[in-house]
Amino acid sequence: MGVKISASILNADLANLEHALRRAEAAGADMIHIDVMDGVFTESITFGDYMVKSLRPHTVLPLDTHLMVSEPTKLIPFFVSAGSDIITIHEESSGDIFKCLELIRSLGVKAGISVNPETDVRKIFPYLSLCDLVLIMSVKPGAGGQAFKAESLLKINAVRKEADRLSVPIDISVDGGISDSTAPLIFSAGANVAVVGTYLLNSADMKKAAETIRNAGTQG
Ligand code: DX5
Ligand code: ZN
Repeated sequence: MGVKISASILNADLANLEHALRRAEAAGADMIHIDVMDGVFTESITFGDYMVKSLRPHTVLPLDTHLMVSEPTKLIPFFVSAGSDIITIHEESSGDIFKCLELIRSLGVKAGISVNPETDVRKIFPYLSLCDLVLIMSVKPGAGGQAFKAESLLKINAVRKEADRLSVPIDISVDGGISDSTAPLIFSAGANVAVVGTYLLNSADMKKAAETIRNAGTQG
């Protein structure tokens, strides 16, 4: 199975997002990762549904929307209308997680569940059959450019085993600190999607950097 790259635009030049989209597309990214932060779940505030709506006509790539917000329930329909293709909510958010995931799917969008580094990954096991994607946070939510936390490898492995046991065909995505040195680790632990921000953005040759990440997944 081939791996996928979701290019995070968090640390791109936000005054020139169209350029960020063109660069990610030219590099061969499979999706665009959009980090939504509300200033409550995270310290910073980033993007909202209006930005997703603005980006939507400028790319055919799926918009992989990561809701780092404390109350996702009311926001979900806005992101669906704006054009998100995947909406991932956090286990640590308030509200009824089952209902949120059902709502996302009922609106025709792929549903994801994410866990913070300090959260026991077994807490998301009850949701696996309602999800298309699990997003393992390998850094504290809130900023790009942080160092990868190696503890997340055990979580990836645990989710892959549980998904296999339940026969749930789920994508396992890993978010934070992914580079040429950490990508081989996440793919061999059972992930098949890498969210990559600063490693791609800081590469002089983004296409080559994306190929390095992809090759790490095919050689595992
Ligand atoms: C962190 C975000 C990540 C971030 C990843 O809160 O969820 O998506 O953009 O960026 P890098 O690859 O720089 O760690
Ligand atoms: Zn993210």
